[in-house]
Amino acid sequence: MPFDFDRIARTELIPLLSRAPKAELHIHIEGSLEPELIFALAQRNGVALPYADVEALRAAYAFTDLQSFLDIYYAGASVLLQEDDFHDMAWAYFLKAQADHVVHAELFFDPQTHTARGVDTGVVIRGLKRACDRAQAELGISSALILCFLRHLSEDEALATLEAALPWREHFIGVGLDSSERGHPPEKFARVFARAAELGLHRVAHAGEEGPPAYVESALDVLKVERIDHGVRSVESPALIERLAREGVPLTVCPLSNIKLCVFRHMAYHSMPALLALGCKPTVNSDDPAYFGGYLNDNFVALFEALPQLGAREAYALLRNSFEASFVPAERKGAWMAELDAVFAQAAA
Ligand code: ADE
Ligand code: ZN
Repeated sequence: MPFDFDRIARTELIPLLSRAPKAELHIHIEGSLEPELIFALAQRNGVALPYADVEALRAAYAFTDLQSFLDIYYAGASVLLQEDDFHDMAWAYFLKAQADHVVHAELFFDPQTHTARGVDTGVVIRGLKRACDRAQAELGISSALILCFLRHLSEDEALATLEAALPWREHFIGVGLDSSERGHPPEKFARVFARAAELGLHRVAHAGEEGPPAYVESALDVLKVERIDHGVRSVESPALIERLAREGVPLTVCPLSNIKLCVFRHMAYHSMPALLALGCKPTVNSDDPAYFGGYLNDNFVALFEALPQLGAREAYALLRNSFEASFVPAERKGAWMAELDAVFAQAAA
C-alpha cells in the first residue's frame, strides 16, 4: 500500500512501532526465562544454582561472545523439569508479547538441553503447547513451535532428537539449528534436515551470526532452509547479499542480541540499514530477551534510536516482512498486513 511515509514525524516513529501489530519469528523460549522465574523454579524443583540471588545472576550477564552467553543460558535452563515449568516460562513470554502487540510468535525450543538432564521430550512439548493454546484463547496471540538441534552435538544425536519428538509431530511446525556456530557448519546436519523435509517440516537455521557468509550459503544449499536466523554477516559478501535479495530469503535479525554478544561494537554499526538498502528481507526479533536487555519492542526502539537513517518506510518494511516471512497460510498473513496498513494509514494521514 502506498503511504506518504514523509508525513510520519520522527517523534511519532517509536510510538507507531510500539503499537503496530507484529510477528516474532526468532525467540528461544528458554531465553525468555527471567532471573526471577529461574529462582522461583529452582526453589519449586529443589535445584541448586551457582548464584546467590537474582542480582548475582543478572550481574553474570556480561557476555563477550556467543559461547560466553550459551554457558549461562544452559545453566539457567537447568531449573526446567516439569511440564508446568515449560508452560509457566512460555506463558510469561506471551504476556510480554501481548504488551508489545505481537499477534503471532514462532517459538524455538531446544529439547536436547532438557533430555540431557533426564526430562522427557513429551514433557517439554506438552508444557509449551499448553501455553500456546492458552495464549490463543486468552490473549488472541497465535503461535507455533520450532524444534531446534544443538549444533555443538552430533548429527546422530539430532536425528535421535527428531525421532523422539515424532509422537508430538502435530505440535511443531519446523526444525531449526542453534547453539555454537563457529566450527559447526550447516552441512554437518544435512541428513537430519533432509529427514525433516520428508516429514513436511519447515526448516530454518542460525547462520552468519558469528559464522562466515559461507555458512549462510550452505544453510540454503545443503539444508534447504526457508529462513536464515541472524544472517547479519551476509553483508561481508556482495554475491551472497545479491542472492538473498534476488531469492527474497527472510533474515530473522536480533539487534540487541548482536550488541550483547559483540557481533557489532555498537548499534550504530549494525548491518540492518545495509540489509534493507540492498533489497534483503530482514525482520526484527528478540532472540533471548531475558538475557539481552529487552523484548521485541525494545529491539525496535534500540535499532531506530541508534540509526537515524531508518525511518517510517523501513519500519513498515520490517513489520510487513515479519508477516510475510511467517509460516502461516496466506490469508492469515493478509489479515495481519491489513491491520498493519490501517495503523500506518492513520499515522500518515
Ligand atoms: N541459542 C539461544 N540463543 C542463541 C543464539 N543467539 N545463537 C545461537 N544459539 C542460540
Ligand atoms: Zn537465536
